[in-house]
Amino acid sequence: MSKTLRLSILGAGTVGGGVLALLRENADLLQAQTGKSFEVRHVLVRDLQKPRAAITDPKRLTADPQRAIFDPKVNVVLELMGGLEPARTLIRDALQAGKHVITANKLVMAVSGDELIRLAHRQGVRLLYEASVAGSLPILNALQGALAGNRISRVVGIVNSTTNFILREMERAVDSDAPAESAYDAALRKAQENGYAEADPSSDVEGYDAQYKTAILARLAFLQYVPLESIYREGITHLSGRDLLWAQRLHMGLKLLSISERLPDGRLCARVHPTLIPRECPLYVVRGAFSGVWLQGNGFQEMSMHGFGAGARATASAVIGDLIEIARHPKPLKMEDPSLRAGETAPIESLTMRYFLRLVAPDEDALRTLREPLQQLGAEFQPSESVAQGIEQVALTPPLNEGEFQTRIAPLRTETTLQVIRLL
Ligand code: NAP
Ligand code: HSE
Repeated sequence: MSKTLRLSILGAGTVGGGVLALLRENADLLQAQTGKSFEVRHVLVRDLQKPRAAITDPKRLTADPQRAIFDPKVNVVLELMGGLEPARTLIRDALQAGKHVITANKLVMAVSGDELIRLAHRQGVRLLYEASVAGSLPILNALQGALAGNRISRVVGIVNSTTNFILREMERAVDSDAPAESAYDAALRKAQENGYAEADPSSDVEGYDAQYKTAILARLAFLQYVPLESIYREGITHLSGRDLLWAQRLHMGLKLLSISERLPDGRLCARVHPTLIPRECPLYVVRGAFSGVWLQGNGFQEMSMHGFGAGARATASAVIGDLIEIARHPKPLKMEDPSLRAGETAPIESLTMRYFLRLVAPDEDALRTLREPLQQLGAEFQPSESVAQGIEQVALTPPLNEGEFQTRIAPLRTETTLQVIRLL
């Protein structure tokens, strides 16, 4: 590889802009780290007229993907545009053309990662995607490198920063007696302005983004192919300020968690849903636009890391780390292509866990009708309270099988509110 690495950057939005800025600011450092310089030859965008602070040389801008991918001088293509297509096809084209590829695209890696990793391997080039999970956290590198000699038993993560940011703002509203629902709307807007949210933010708040990241994490942690449809997904849109208030009263935190674990029968269970966690959990302190990952393995026992999980510069840090890695080691290493075990996955219904229940009914009779079957399951209720919609009562259950529990509560889910949140 020559002394200069020539790059095509597909996308100059939040992440692309951050990468261009960091490449400029840290050019001397990158040279010192790799002995190479980096030249941006093309920056692919949709709209050539849009003003862009990150672009210092407008001649590099193009709206022609072919030009960006097939320029024979380009060594590395950075896919930072997002979405499934055309991003996936452009990554494939770049690999087939013998270019190294770096991507921040969790959707592409969750859906087609296996195929693309095999293609990169066949082509003798590298495909790196650290930025696709948890922004600045080097979790994928850790799983493939320093921690690769461990049998991982569980990976628990706050992997979506937008929802963690929204939950924090709702929590603040509860603290100051402001309406948490308007805090939700304002926080989502702020997450979009700060560049944390996806182009379609329903991917964040409905849990799809966390589901894609869970597929990528579980694949590397357990060396097992985890189909997206096997990962249970629930977002945060049904949570209210009362849930956050009760979390505080019960000395717990409420987070959207990604949980993947090897069950005692050998099956792998992966899921994404709001979860109440105790204050002793290392993820309790992970707040706002931060992401965090807490791992358990048979050598290191347990480990956690947290930091900015989204935003221009934090994500660019992970992309640039991949670029340095390619500059230093342009040949694919065997550990990048772990042979995936064909293993069984288990649905969430196989699990046993505890639940927080919040019932709201118009009057005491309606509340009793709802409460009694739950008491038969062992739910222990707090005293009831008057709220705007009537009477509210909350309970914690003992450990229950998810499948049986959901079947038992299905008839209770009428127009009366029955909020159910799982405990870690
Ligand atoms: P973004 O701000 O919406 O930027 C996307 C960029 O790609 C824009 O410059 C856009 O061009 C360009 N683009 C999109 N579709 C294109 C097409 N068909 N042809 C040409 N150019 C196209 O998105 P982002 O937040 O930077 O995210 C990019 C990727 O990084 C996504 O996969 C996202 O999930 C991932 N990611 C984001 C973050 C984050 O914090 N934002 C963190 C980790 C990973 P125009 O400017 O002309 O519209
Ligand atoms: N929208 C994503 C998040 C960006 O909020 O976590 C980082 O992948």
